[in-house]
Amino acid sequence: MIDRERESLMEFSQVINRRHSVRDFTDQPVAREDLLDIARAALTAPSWVNSQPWRIYIATGTTLADIKAQHRAHVDAGDGGHSDFPVMHRTDWSPDAQANMAGLGAQIGEYFGDEGRAFAASQSRLFNAQAIAYLTVPVGSSQCRSTTSAACR
Ligand SMILES: Cc1cc2nc3c(=O)[nH]c(=O)nc-3n(C[C@H](O)[C@H](O)[C@H](O)COP(=O)(O)O)c2cc1C
Repeated sequence: MIDRERESLMEFSQVINRRHSVRDFTDQPVAREDLLDIARAALTAPSWVNSQPWRIYIATGTTLADIKAQHRAHVDAGDGGHSDFPVMHRTDWSPDAQANMAGLGAQIGEYFGDEGRAFAASQSRLFNAQAIAYLTVPVGSSQCRSTTSAACR
């Protein structure tokens, strides 16, 4: 393997190992070209029969400010989420998965130190994200249309 290839493999493993969920972004804006690069990279993902059914919408500026204000209003009103896809209640997940969820809860409490209130506050501000990319798939994608499919019975 030539050095250049080895270098890019290392870079890729670093990307994987260094990735983590950021729960409080700085105010530093993200360059439009960087956002487009991220979207272009996402669009190279494989898909069933190469259908590529997704769309990517990137919200910044006043659009993002409106989204944040609406999100905040829903949080303040105590509204729950409205998932487009059916979501199993957390108590129905496997014991291992539930232990992982409990572990995250404990970590959040430990890190934020005030029973997770700072975390909840940051979440209600959408983590101060300077841009949000929404990846969408067509409405009804998760519904079964074929009664012959085992997954649909
Ligand atoms: C589908 C999905 C939904 C998630 N929802 C939230 C969320 O609502 N709030 C949050 O703080 N993190 C959320 N996360 C991040 C996970 O909590 C996080 O990936 C996990 O704790 C592992 O941490 P890491 O990403 O830093 O490795 C979500 C991750 C995924 C994949």
